[in-house]
Amino acid sequence: MFDLANGRPLNFKKWIEENSHKLVPPVNNAQVWTDSDFMITVVGSPNERNDFHDNPTEEFFYQLKGNASAILWKDGKFDRVVFEEGDIFLMPPHQQHSPQRPEEGSLCLVIERKRPVGELDAVSWFCGACGNLIKRYEMDLDDITKDLPPVYEAFYETSQAERTCSKCGEIHPGRDYPAWHKQLANGKSPA
Ligand SMILES: [Fe+2]
Repeated sequence: MFDLANGRPLNFKKWIEENSHKLVPPVNNAQVWTDSDFMITVVGSPNERNDFHDNPTEEFFYQLKGNASAILWKDGKFDRVVFEEGDIFLMPPHQQHSPQRPEEGSLCLVIERKRPVGELDAVSWFCGACGNLIKRYEMDLDDITKDLPPVYEAFYETSQAERTCSKCGEIHPGRDYPAWHKQLANGKSPA
């Protein structure tokens, strides 16, 4: 038998069952293979977030169970794509997105490329009321689980003055996710 770097075919349903303890808060995800050219991850739920990911490469989504969505941001406007159970979707590079998985027990397969050398990821927070950029952090992403938490913490520790929108004066509520979603719902470009 050949020695295959990533092993023999595995039963995906069984793998999900065995990793189900990771697919719930606070972790909410598990990587199928590590150290490969693809970052193949199963994402669970529920989650709450208001950050937007700017990925220099494409992202493939396959909504395995339940429903979810992603809020999109472009040029100061918001939109939303809905992932119904069974849907597949390919997010274009640099389309800033904020996945929303409020439904308990939902599962999504997400496949990302390992980033080409020198191409940066970014995480941004936008004003829910007017779509203006509040804060953007760029990074050379190597490990999703290790590289992102410090960025979230940095944003949550910013002062109210730093989170005040330079365009409309609204204060970004930081990690108060329901408050931010309320601003979005009442804003200029609701998603
Ligand atoms: Fe604003």
